[in-house]
Amino acid sequence: MSRKTRVLITGAGGFIGSHLVNTLRRKGYWVRGADIVHSKFMDPAADEFRLLDLRRWENCLEATDGIDEVYSLAANMGGIGFIETVHAEVLHDNVLINTHMIEAARQNGVQRYFYASSACIYPTYRQEEADCVGLKETEAYPADPDNEYGWEKLYSERVCAAYWREHGLETRIARFHNIYGPFGTYEGGREKAPAALCRKAAEAFDGGELEVWGDGQQTRSFCYIDDCLEGIHRLMRSDHREPLNIGSEEMVTIDQLADMAIALSGKNLTRSYRPAKPQGVRGRSSDNTLVRKVLGWSPQTSLWEGMQKTYPWISFQVRLKRERMGPRAAGKAMRAGASV
Ligand SMILES: NC(=O)c1ccc[n+]([C@@H]2O[C@H](COP(=O)([O-])OP(=O)(O)OC[C@H]3O[C@@H](n4cnc5c(N)ncnc54)[C@H](O)[C@@H]3O)[C@@H](O)[C@H]2O)c1
Repeated sequence: MSRKTRVLITGAGGFIGSHLVNTLRRKGYWVRGADIVHSKFMDPAADEFRLLDLRRWENCLEATDGIDEVYSLAANMGGIGFIETVHAEVLHDNVLINTHMIEAARQNGVQRYFYASSACIYPTYRQEEADCVGLKETEAYPADPDNEYGWEKLYSERVCAAYWREHGLETRIARFHNIYGPFGTYEGGREKAPAALCRKAAEAFDGGELEVWGDGQQTRSFCYIDDCLEGIHRLMRSDHREPLNIGSEEMVTIDQLADMAIALSGKNLTRSYRPAKPQGVRGRSSDNTLVRKVLGWSPQTSLWEGMQKTYPWISFQVRLKRERMGPRAAGKAMRAGASV
């Protein structure tokens, strides 16, 4: 019997990583997961899971030992509220994780290396209008990312390219655009817009308010997790070494996204806008011309369909938490502004 390909998924305790563990196991790979924490919501079925701080060189060597392919997803990251306020820590941690991981992979003879980059690498000057056109892969330069998280991602893309040129390491780079779905962070300040709006709608009293950051007219596109997983797999198996968008072209305003969360909650909620909260760039969407051509990939899940799968999971988590606290304590905490 032929030996199974042995893959390492870093960030396997996180949202995309824990889904990816299950996907690759189902496809017949031997999977090692590594993360600094265990998954909060899922029990990913890795063959082996190692609790490792991947900022540390010796831990990256341990993680990549005996591995054929690496999916490098570990990162200190969060939604817009997090990445617009925590700069030094994000740069410090992610540079250490990514430079140590790829060098450890090289030293341990890894053959293929996937790197999770982001739409945050695209220049600010291309994202100043809400009514914008999708971002093409070729538009990354002249570089001017909106935040330090994006600069680090761009730097790590360049590290991947250099390791291919000088060491022959087969690198694959995906630029994820707002991936969402069940089992993602939905509270605590690191959640992204779809999860945050679902949580706020699930927590609100019927007849109450739904807080929206900004004026609601900023635009984004969102890609459902199952589509993202399919994109990762196709990219890793392809010959394409340049970065590729893994995102959706279905651009909506944050108000439209909030409408979906409200409709799914079945409640009568009035939006209350918070213009002083971080909003990020004014408009962002993906142009999928290249990824369609190279991988034959485009998202199959509309935003409404994806939200229909995401809202019930978040609403269930909110209910579970409320039941554990007891209704009186939950009501008191909510009046004090906590997320319950
Ligand atoms: N979710 C998105 O919309 C999106 C968009 C663009 C890029 N990305 C990238 O995709 C990857 C996965 O994102 P996600 O949404 O699953 O995020 P996530 O925060 O759920 O997962 C990241 C994981 O990395 C782990 N990690 C952080 N520091 C670590 C360390 N020092 N050692 C080991 N593990 C560490 C975290 O514990 C977490 O489990 C990240 O690299 C992220 O930057 C995600």
